[in-house]
Amino acid sequence: MRELAGKTAFVTGAASGIGLAMGRAFAEAGMKVMLADIETEALAAAVKSLHNFGPAVRSVICDVADPASVERAAKASFDAFGNVHVVCNNAGVAAGGGIDNISLDNWRWVVDVNLMGVVHGVRSFLPHIRAHGEGGHIVNTASMAGMINGMGFSPYSATKFAVVSMSEGLAPQLKPLGIGVSVLCPGFVRTGIGESGRNRPDRYGPTQALDPNSPAAAMVAEIARRLQAGLEPAVVAAKVLDAIRNDELYVFTHPEMREPIDERFQAIQAAMDKAAR
Ligand SMILES: NC(=O)c1ccc[n+]([C@@H]2O[C@H](COP(=O)([O-])OP(=O)(O)OC[C@H]3O[C@@H](n4cnc5c(N)ncnc54)[C@H](O)[C@@H]3O)[C@@H](O)[C@H]2O)c1
Repeated sequence: MRELAGKTAFVTGAASGIGLAMGRAFAEAGMKVMLADIETEALAAAVKSLHNFGPAVRSVICDVADPASVERAAKASFDAFGNVHVVCNNAGVAAGGGIDNISLDNWRWVVDVNLMGVVHGVRSFLPHIRAHGEGGHIVNTASMAGMINGMGFSPYSATKFAVVSMSEGLAPQLKPLGIGVSVLCPGFVRTGIGESGRNRPDRYGPTQALDPNSPAAAMVAEIARRLQAGLEPAVVAAKVLDAIRNDELYVFTHPEMREPIDERFQAIQAAMDKAAR
């Protein structure tokens, strides 16, 4: 979708981090923007912070884990702006426990937000974009954790691999309809993802404290350190806009993380070679 000005974008997880940066970049490109998020106060602050950018920025409370909530947010967007063209299924959370603490609550929460949140977004907006026929673009936020698993047996990585697969599957199906698909795969970005527990609904139970001496706790501490040293969200958002304009499927932001991807592909190819012998 080359021309963004005058079009409308809907972004989930838009109260902070990458989602907020995408919202700002869309507004600066002349788009109308609906910011959707579960965190009420942060969302109010976000929409206020974008007050001077773009033609119109609105917000809607939305829990992407709940299909009815996403439906309501979609309707609010159509009511506010008419046709929606760009949909960013970006909301995401992280939780873990490692192999010594496989919490089903953690798995359900992360799967509901990171994976089903994308399903709900596609389900609520795709029929609308197809029907208005003005073209569109779907951006699904995965992660480098959807390309390589450096996080062990974790729901986060499992959901991000799924988001990559869903996006790869959607892209050729939507291309003939004039709808592009991008899957965003960042490495570490300086955001609030390390404090995801702030948005954990009660129905998934409390966040369990990790044994400070466990490998899982060491991994969480290392991830927090790397997030702090991570890329600015605005840099990621600029790459997303570029991918929408050029209709590119994969959006990578950390080329220095290429080596482990190459190693993964080489291991797969070696196993295929063995199967062929
Ligand atoms: N920060 C990183 O290093 C990094 C790297 C790769 C991928 N990502 C992905 O980027 C996306 C955005 O995360 P971020 O890093 O900006 O973190 P963030 O915590 O700053 O933003 C995530 C947003 O999602 C919202 N959210 C959480 N649960 C929600 C729900 N059920 N419904 C609606 N909104 C909900 C939060 O309130 C928050 O505003 C996520 O999908 C994350 O997995 C982040």
